Amino acid sequence: MKTVYITRRETFNAAHKLYNENWSEEKNEEVFGKCANANWHGHNFSIWVTVKGIPHPDTGFVMNLKDLSEIIKQYVVEPLDHRNLNLDVPFLKGILPSTENIAIELWDIMAGPIQEKGGELAKIKLVETENNFVEYYGGKEPF
Ligand code: NI
Repeated sequence: MKTVYITRRETFNAAHKLYNENWSEEKNEEVFGKCANANWHGHNFSIWVTVKGIPHPDTGFVMNLKDLSEIIKQYVVEPLDHRNLNLDVPFLKGILPSTENIAIELWDIMAGPIQEKGGELAKIKLVETENNFVEYYGGKEPF
């Protein structure tokens, strides 16, 4: 099977803090350091959404990247850009907004719409800083 993986990147910026309400301030400080800063901090995130499939004979496309871009903008950039991830985003309510947890939620939100456009979500890579990123494959082993 000539499966091909295609990826679209979009960017957004957002604020958050990492803080476990069940812990003391000291423990939060010890585990999360500056990320627990009470008055928030921000990141320029980039999200890389990978879809897999076999190129369609009529188009040569696995999926139209314009459709993928629009899905990411609608389901990720629109709700998250310039927001506070702890306070402003309904689907992140009650979730500690680590990069890992955000990636999991974004998978659950985008998998359906991507499928409706003929693609199969294969991977979400969420880049928080130049040096830190997470990759999520829908809870499965990658390959
Ligand atoms: Ni952070």
